[in-house]
Amino acid sequence: MGRITIQNLSKTYINRRRFPRGDDDPQVRQGERITVLKDINLEIENGEMVCFLGPSGCGKSTLLRIIAGFEPACGGVVQVNGQPVTGPSADHIFVFQHSGLFPWMTVAENVGLGLRHLKNHHSRQAQVTEFIEMVELEGFEHHYPRQLSGGMQRRAELARALAVNPDIMIMDEPFSGLDFLTHMKMREEVVNMHAFIRKTMLLVTHNIDDALIMGDHIVILGSSPTAVTMDRILDFPRPRNFEKSPELGRLRSELFLMLGINYAV
Ligand SMILES: Nc1ncnc2c1ncn2[C@@H]1O[C@H](COP(=O)(O)OP(=O)(O)OP(=O)(O)O)[C@@H](O)[C@H]1O
Ligand SMILES: [Mg+2]
Repeated sequence: MGRITIQNLSKTYINRRRFPRGDDDPQVRQGERITVLKDINLEIENGEMVCFLGPSGCGKSTLLRIIAGFEPACGGVVQVNGQPVTGPSADHIFVFQHSGLFPWMTVAENVGLGLRHLKNHHSRQAQVTEFIEMVELEGFEHHYPRQLSGGMQRRAELARALAVNPDIMIMDEPFSGLDFLTHMKMREEVVNMHAFIRKTMLLVTHNIDDALIMGDHIVILGSSPTAVTMDRILDFPRPRNFEKSPELGRLRSELFLMLGINYAV
């Protein structure tokens, strides 16, 4: 289960600075308050792939950190499966990180970490092999992360996420820094993986095409203090193709304009 309900969520950071002695203005002493998220309301269904878009600094990572329980909200409620989020939950939520692999463990050992509950060595190994094959890393089972390319490291991280089998997977810009072809390949792998596991996935991207190709649900956040400017279910058939679906192409142009780009490329 990976149903998420967010009601009237708000988040304010207080940036305290060192000030010269004698400054007795209480507001200055308290620090500068920055309201990042304001009255965010969202309903995310179990199994949805939700893509978040929005300008840099609008609070996408903050929102995902609050959902993951890494940071408290200042107001409102976040519920996962009907339970309020009060802190991180390693069993239910997996946060995909660029360098989330343990460097002293091989690919197989890293992937096997999520399968520690399987007492039978052979069935554990069989599953490790299956997940490694799913991300096309056969032959690299006994390599350490430093012996893999950046793209391979992220695929190994995907296999690790598959092994953990969480209710919710959170990916904050998982394709950033990858070359174009690796980006496309990995996008395809994430889409296939989602079709296979059908778990709730929350993905932040700066790439409109990623959101339209991947998402079952797209959420656009406006600039600070951030509110939801678009919350839309995408029910276009898959595999998606801009040329074959004029409606998808129109939405693409609309999103470009919405994010301040006048000429969609
Ligand atoms: N721990 C913190 N203390 C103070 N301000 C913070 C903190 N974390 C984030 N902020 C501020 O909150 C705002 C939103 O940050 P956040 O990282 O969530 O943005 P983002 O949408 O993920 O941006 P990007 O697309 O560049 O990753 C920014 O103005 C940032 O400076
Ligand atoms: Mg961010």
